[in-house]
Amino acid sequence: MSTFESQPRLISALDIGTTKVCAVMAQVNESGRLNLLGVGSAPSTGMRKGMVVNVKETITAIETAVEEAEAQADVKMDGVYVALSGEQIRSMNNAGVITVSRDESHLPHTQEITEEDVDRVLDQAKAVTLPNDREILHVLPQEFKVDQHDGIKAPLGHMGHRLEARVHLVTMDSPAAQNLIRCVEAAGLFVEALVLAPLASAAAVLEQTEKDQGVVLIDMGAGTTELLVYYDGGVRHTAVIPFGGNRVSNDIAQILHTTFQKAEELKMEYGYAKFPATVEDNEITINGIAGRQPQTTTRRGLSAIIEPRLEEILQLCRNEVRKSDVSDKLTFGVVITGGGALLREMEEKAGEVFNADIKIGYPLHVGGLEDMVSSPEYATAIGLLLYGLEYEETYGSTKRPSSLSNFMRKLGSLIKNFFKELF
Ligand SMILES: Nc1ncnc2c1ncn2[C@@H]1O[C@H](COP(=O)(O)OP(=O)(O)OP(=O)(O)O)[C@@H](O)[C@H]1O
Ligand SMILES: [Mg+2]
Repeated sequence: MSTFESQPRLISALDIGTTKVCAVMAQVNESGRLNLLGVGSAPSTGMRKGMVVNVKETITAIETAVEEAEAQADVKMDGVYVALSGEQIRSMNNAGVITVSRDESHLPHTQEITEEDVDRVLDQAKAVTLPNDREILHVLPQEFKVDQHDGIKAPLGHMGHRLEARVHLVTMDSPAAQNLIRCVEAAGLFVEALVLAPLASAAAVLEQTEKDQGVVLIDMGAGTTELLVYYDGGVRHTAVIPFGGNRVSNDIAQILHTTFQKAEELKMEYGYAKFPATVEDNEITINGIAGRQPQTTTRRGLSAIIEPRLEEILQLCRNEVRKSDVSDKLTFGVVITGGGALLREMEEKAGEVFNADIKIGYPLHVGGLEDMVSSPEYATAIGLLLYGLEYEETYGSTKRPSSLSNFMRKLGSLIKNFFKELF
């Protein structure tokens, strides 16, 4: 099916969200940048808050999205990077310390730090006791300390005696991850790697400067809102808030006695995160459901339903940011992405809650088909491709199918790979 003369390097990804499944394929061009070849999207009905609740519907949605992307790209998908999110995700900061390996010809205080030392210290840093059903998804290095010198990003080659690694550990629920892998495999694909969804979104919408000087990334989806706090190039805090845009639409549906679907439409067509004084108000008529009388409201009235719910979600995010030890150092404030970021006046409302600079995060760093993916809703899918590009440049592509039987072993190797991650 391939139209290419020589073997092009392809990267594919799947964002299996609560609202939609999004499949994307890209080719790596000569300059190492991604060029999108195919995009497919299908309504997702089998997922709730990052968990598979209906296997059959999830597989069908994956197949539909993948077929669409494949048809556009005129290439078959095989290995995919898959986003993982939801309440099953947990995270913590941890540290590991080792004595730098001895070379007998050197004095104890003049040892050069080797790759093996870095591996060992990262091993130490992830050595936490987890319940049987949990696995480490990512080990994200923050900084290294060599003897008394901290803030070191790449300790290789430094001289020292004591090496410390500070990391952010992300863990996942193994059965939940296994369910997702099972759905992807049933759709005829294999999983190259699982990636924390907001980590992928961050790859798509943030610049390195923002990560270095401090920023909060909020991915507001339908079922969950996820956030990452970056400082000094590393992830300092992650959190999953178990509500997203669906929560807002549910309120609209309940208060205005309408369907969830109609509530979604009203939110998107007339809703504001904060109704501006300068906008003219007007009346909205909503058809009655199952023989009921039509309801009327106004744009301002609709926004008055939206605002408190949204504020609640944003306040939960703000509380999480405060838990990080860098909350007063975040030069670049808050970047909001995900479909929820599209609500009108979101920047205004978020600015009130965070009292910080707010930006809406649109996917960057890819070429081709920009019009199809230039929305915050595609941040995770595009970010997965960028993550995959970096991952394969560091470790190469596995390009071999995972099977359910070797699930744990595969996760094991993923863990090993992610140790070295400096994403
Ligand atoms: N124009 C818009 N205005 C307001 N809200 C919007 C708009 N477009 C999308 N949304 C909201 O964004 C949410 C969907 O976002 P997104 O596609 O990022 O979710 P998802 O990835 O499927 O869900 P999750 O990440 O929770 O699994 C829905 O709640 C939807 O109502
Ligand atoms: Mg999402």
